Amino acid sequence: MAATPLERLVTRLSFAASQAGRVAWYAGHGAAMRRAVRRIDAQHDANHPGTRPQIRKPRGAVPSTRRMLADIAALLKRDLENVEAGLYPLPADNDGTLPARLATSRAFFADVPEVARRRRDRAHREARHEAGAAKRPRYYQQNFHFQSGGWMTPDSARLYDMQVEVLFNGSADAMRRQVLVPMAGELTGRDQRTICYADIACGTGSFLAQVRRAFPRLPCLAIDLSQAYLGETRRRIGRTSIVKPVLAKAEALPLADGGLDLATCIFLFHELPPKIRRLVAAEIGRVVRPGGLFIFVESLQTGDNPDYDGLLELFPQLFHEPYYASYLRTDVTRLFENAGFILEGTTHAVFSKIMRFRRV
Ligand SMILES: C[S@@+](CC[C@H](N)C(=O)[O-])C[C@H]1O[C@@H](n2cnc3c(N)ncnc32)[C@H](O)[C@@H]1O
Repeated sequence: MAATPLERLVTRLSFAASQAGRVAWYAGHGAAMRRAVRRIDAQHDANHPGTRPQIRKPRGAVPSTRRMLADIAALLKRDLENVEAGLYPLPADNDGTLPARLATSRAFFADVPEVARRRRDRAHREARHEAGAAKRPRYYQQNFHFQSGGWMTPDSARLYDMQVEVLFNGSADAMRRQVLVPMAGELTGRDQRTICYADIACGTGSFLAQVRRAFPRLPCLAIDLSQAYLGETRRRIGRTSIVKPVLAKAEALPLADGGLDLATCIFLFHELPPKIRRLVAAEIGRVVRPGGLFIFVESLQTGDNPDYDGLLELFPQLFHEPYYASYLRTDVTRLFENAGFILEGTTHAVFSKIMRFRRV
């Protein structure tokens, strides 16, 4: 049944209030964090002049804050259109209660000096000493983003979404939601309960929480190599048998050949060394059945949006991203064609792109 004008107005007002509030909250944290880092760096420079690694000026264009906020506004407009078209429900608050949000905010700022220290000292191997790290591949035992604990600790899992939203000025969840559009296309007219679906490298489950709301009867495998992040997924989603956490490497998935109808993978590939990237692509090709859909989400690559090229050069200098430069050079279409897929289409969402691959 079509929405009445009053219902549409309520939807729009509630969407505008919640999303504008999120962007202001996270962009405000970003501005305060940069001020804090400048103070920390200035103090260090006064005591140890010339010892801090310098950031190379990017050759490509760097969008202004105003431009990024305009692009985020355009994304949110598209997001609302998707809601109004019935592709998915109004976004729920994925950030917790106000006290929980304030506690995360305090923890975020308390961690800023540690992140600044690691960036300054290029200290990215501390995660090796965290409990359980020795059981993980060596490439994984790093402080990605210079974050405390790497992917290993519950504290890191608790802070991760805040750090990502601050990085993307509050647009990360909206970017991920664009994956729900092709998922809706794939699931329409089918009994969700019969579909085998996995989110590979699900992190803390922020995307799966949105999947749960949009497709409540869809069984989900939540796959990740971090016990701590899977713990956060469980906490976020709650105890339900419809979401099954699976601790596994994406390059060795504990799934049968052709066992999945549908798979998503969001922001994993730029974290992988080139050789592992090829193994993971082949593994996804192995587990998605012929005719199945794989949705890949990653950072834009050089030339995708030339106005953002300089930002892509800056990112791996500011955050520990050892494999990002090689990701920028990767031919993603070829990577997945070699794994048995054909590209059906690509859409951009501010800092990221969403590519739909069909298994041949
Ligand atoms: C940048 S986060 C992305 C998380 C999530 N998909 C999101 O949208 O925020 C990368 C995630 O990949 C996981 N990861 C990294 N290498 C992996 C591997 N080889 N196999 C499985 N998960 C891996 C990490 O534990 C982490 O949760």
